[in-house]
Amino acid sequence: MQVPGRAGVSLLGDESIEFYKTPREYLEKRRKTYGDVFLGRIINKRTVFLTSNKAVQSLLNDEWQHFSMGYKEFMYELFDDNVLFLEGDAWHSMRKSLESLFDHESVARCLEETKSVVEEFFRNFSTNEPVVVYKTFKLLATRLSIALFLSHHTSPEDSQVIAELMTLHWRGIISVPVNMRGPWSLWQSGYSKALSAKDRLKAIIADIIKSRPSAIASSIEACCTEDKEAGLRHLLLFVSALIPKAFASILTSLVLELSKPENARWRECSNDDSLLDNIVLEAQRLWPPFIGGRRVCTKDCVVAGYRIPEGMSVVYCAYLANRDSAVFSEPDSFKPERWSQQNAGDREKVWTFGGGPRQCIGRYLSTTLLREMLKKLLQNFTWEVVPEQDLRYKVLPVCRPKEDVMATFTRTSSSSDSS
Ligand code: HEM
Repeated sequence: MQVPGRAGVSLLGDESIEFYKTPREYLEKRRKTYGDVFLGRIINKRTVFLTSNKAVQSLLNDEWQHFSMGYKEFMYELFDDNVLFLEGDAWHSMRKSLESLFDHESVARCLEETKSVVEEFFRNFSTNEPVVVYKTFKLLATRLSIALFLSHHTSPEDSQVIAELMTLHWRGIISVPVNMRGPWSLWQSGYSKALSAKDRLKAIIADIIKSRPSAIASSIEACCTEDKEAGLRHLLLFVSALIPKAFASILTSLVLELSKPENARWRECSNDDSLLDNIVLEAQRLWPPFIGGRRVCTKDCVVAGYRIPEGMSVVYCAYLANRDSAVFSEPDSFKPERWSQQNAGDREKVWTFGGGPRQCIGRYLSTTLLREMLKKLLQNFTWEVVPEQDLRYKVLPVCRPKEDVMATFTRTSSSSDSS
């Protein structure tokens, strides 16, 4: 079957502005007209959009070998070579080495290493004054990332410098890739600043891992012996703002969902890890931090019944596929109970961490850390979202409330950290 839709003519037919401005509306409008799989034109490239759960499954699990990852042309300069850009045997061997660092045993060690960071953060957390939820959790997740991937000995001053560089580097990911500087560097484009931030971050990471590296930093270094710089480049990827932003996004969604009166019963689950896992998974399903992912077809193939020619860009929409009513009843409702009932066998149909062989290496680590942070929150605090705020979400560049939504956290009398 031919993919329905219109890709228009080069440049004139480009729909990038509409997509980046109102992504949900862009996707929903075309899905209504053409169906779950349709053609459009983004960054002036003919692009097939996959929005159903079945189509995403077909791309990521069944046909994945006929696609390359679609990030190299946009992100390579900002990260240099790493597993995200590799293909074939080089990808396979790097992936195998890295995977072993994030198995169950290593994640248990990670939890131990980051315990003090999380505890210290929550010790100073409750002010009874409203705080901006997303920003607060981004700060926690940034500290966590630095402790986990670099060293928990990093001083507050160094952490601050690293956090600022992460922000500058992130702006490169979301800006037009134009590397321009004015005379004597009096002026620099955002992208050019991001490239400078990358170099500074790499230098700081190199210094830290020479002196007091975290267990993970040492293991990453050790598994990249053939290419001495590969460890450093992977640490750059892991310490980049992508991961703290994703953590903050999911924590924010958890806090907002659990503040609703109809979800009161889930706030009583802090001693039950399997219920907490279901709550975290449900937030991940409804509010994936990244709207989806991109691929480029390397060999003509068929995805969910549609012919995809070599060279075609393909975007899978985790946000819509996670809300596909063919798999999830009441798809827009927060219902953690679905994971022990009708959707018990569907955990792999949540595409928040991608799927198939190129699924996120950090899925188990992230989910475990999120569960432990949620547990700490529920055991030590109650919270209320400040009334009459605009709670509508945006989904780009990272899924979160459009406005700086605020909530007040109050320490419970039974809290273990209250002393
Ligand atoms: C909530 C946190 C996170 C989210 C939402 C997330 C999301 C994703 C997604 C969607 C992909 C697949 C991209 C695609 O299909 O095109 C991915 C890949 C990847 N993630 Fe994560 N990630 C998270 C945390 C982490 C962490 C903590 C690590 C590091 C340990 C990590 C390392 C990676 C790597 C290395 C890949 C590339 C895998 C490959 O190409 O084979 N991620 N992530």
